[in-house]
Amino acid sequence: MRVRENGPLAFNAPLTVAGKDEGLRLTLCRCGQSKNKPYFDGSHTAAGFTATGELAEVKSEPLAQRNGPVAATPIKDGPLKVTDPLEVVTGTGRTVSRVTETWLCRCGQSKNKPYCDGSHKAAGFVAE
Ligand code: FES
Repeated sequence: MRVRENGPLAFNAPLTVAGKDEGLRLTLCRCGQSKNKPYFDGSHTAAGFTATGELAEVKSEPLAQRNGPVAATPIKDGPLKVTDPLEVVTGTGRTVSRVTETWLCRCGQSKNKPYCDGSHKAAGFVAE
């Protein structure tokens, strides 16, 4: 998953979203403004969303399994839960973390983007 500067999360792997097969490439909203959540629709530009795509590296071990499949589940009024091995890659292509389970911010309010830090509750984020 690549974290786009001031933009969405770009997945490149066999992906399911809420159990629906989405193919090999899909871009999901992380600004909270898409009118088609959890999917990206370009609303971040009009919303003036700013968030770095260049993340600090977190020490992590190589994944036992790469290249998917990846299952992403939008949590109602909350983050995107990913329950499979995932490499987190910066917008410029550096792999900065490898995880086997994570919660990704999709409200745009986290102070620890791209990860959820619970800020969606105070922000009153509403999404199916
Ligand atoms: S979904 Fe954004 S902080 Fe939790």
